[in-house]
Amino acid sequence: MVSILCLIVLYRNIMARDLIKRIVEYNILNNGQELDMMLSSQKKENDFFSNIDMGVGTWAWGDRLYWGYGDAYGEPEIREAFFECISNGITFFDTAEVYGQGKSEILLGKLIKTINTPLKIATKMMPFPWRISSHSLKKALTASLKRLGLSKIDLYQMHWPLKPVPVTEWMNRMADLVEEGLVTAVGVSNYNLGQIISAHEVLRKRGLALTSVQLEYHLLDRRVETNGIMDYCREQGIKLIAYSPLASGVLTGKYSEKTPPRGGRASQYNRSRLERIQPLLRTMIRIGNEHGGKTAGQVALNWIMCKGALPIPGAKNIDQMAQNLGARGWQLDESEIGMLDEISRKVAQ
Ligand SMILES: NC(=O)c1ccc[n+]([C@@H]2O[C@H](COP(=O)([O-])OP(=O)(O)OC[C@H]3O[C@@H](n4cnc5c(N)ncnc54)[C@H](OP(=O)(O)O)[C@@H]3O)[C@@H](O)[C@H]2O)c1
Repeated sequence: MVSILCLIVLYRNIMARDLIKRIVEYNILNNGQELDMMLSSQKKENDFFSNIDMGVGTWAWGDRLYWGYGDAYGEPEIREAFFECISNGITFFDTAEVYGQGKSEILLGKLIKTINTPLKIATKMMPFPWRISSHSLKKALTASLKRLGLSKIDLYQMHWPLKPVPVTEWMNRMADLVEEGLVTAVGVSNYNLGQIISAHEVLRKRGLALTSVQLEYHLLDRRVETNGIMDYCREQGIKLIAYSPLASGVLTGKYSEKTPPRGGRASQYNRSRLERIQPLLRTMIRIGNEHGGKTAGQVALNWIMCKGALPIPGAKNIDQMAQNLGARGWQLDESEIGMLDEISRKVAQ
């Protein structure tokens, strides 16, 4: 009787162990599969930017009106700046059909033709209110491709969410262009959180995903951190591209209340604002010095990279470009990031 009871207990233990083992195996497998699926979908979306820690913005390349192209700098300076990028492994360039009324795309197209290095070129379509026909996106893309001398755009972005054509309609048209093989990835720019979510959902229904969101982000404008966009992008594996990462040059420290920028930047960065941000600039310079002589601009760009966003600084010549590239290859520590966050919060309004 005792031995029968012992056998039953043993049998139940073996069964229980087996059951537990199976449950554990099932869970590992299942969670593993889920994890793999999660990672591969995340990876798919992030693949576009793998090995890209910084890009270059080319608004100033050809733009006379805002940046003064043709005055203190021109094509020879841009050419040198471009080759500085290439020799330092920069592969991502951001332009738009409206930059210099097409001149930025033309200049970039001329330059990329001279090299064999594989690059990723992003451009943007401006949905002017009169562009309502269903062909308008493809027409704009075709013109951009011609100016750039390309047969396909790596990242095609909607520049602004202008009315009347809804965001969802633009995204369906973007998906058509991907299906036609004219565009690799889709991005949006200057969209609010609701519009970003709509764009991502439309693309998802078409078996695609929103690859990037391009917004103004730097130490003097941190709205993306609090309006839900940065969190959403992180969750969904969408890359946040930080435009005007040097606050249009102000974060290099070259402008002050005594020497404010002129032209289009004058009202945004007026004397009183420039005076207010001096404590931030002083801290940036001090932190930069502690990193072996990094400049304020390099600290500004490194801070963006530390936040997980992709800065695309603009540069008008080789010296500016070389300095901006020096923001790579090192890292601010957590206490420095915390210090910059705190001071920028105080002075940035
Ligand atoms: N999606 C959008 O709506 C949107 C809007 C704006 C920009 N963007 C993109 O973001 C890119 C970058 O933004 P951004 O050009 O407006 O501003 P930014 O990168 O913050 O500043 C660029 C300007 O700062 C100055 N600068 C740059 N590097 C410097 C250095 N190392 N030392 C001293 N001065 C330096 C130069 O102008 P000065 O020499 O004249 O000071 C340069 O043109 C654009 O090219 C564009 O691709 C997109």
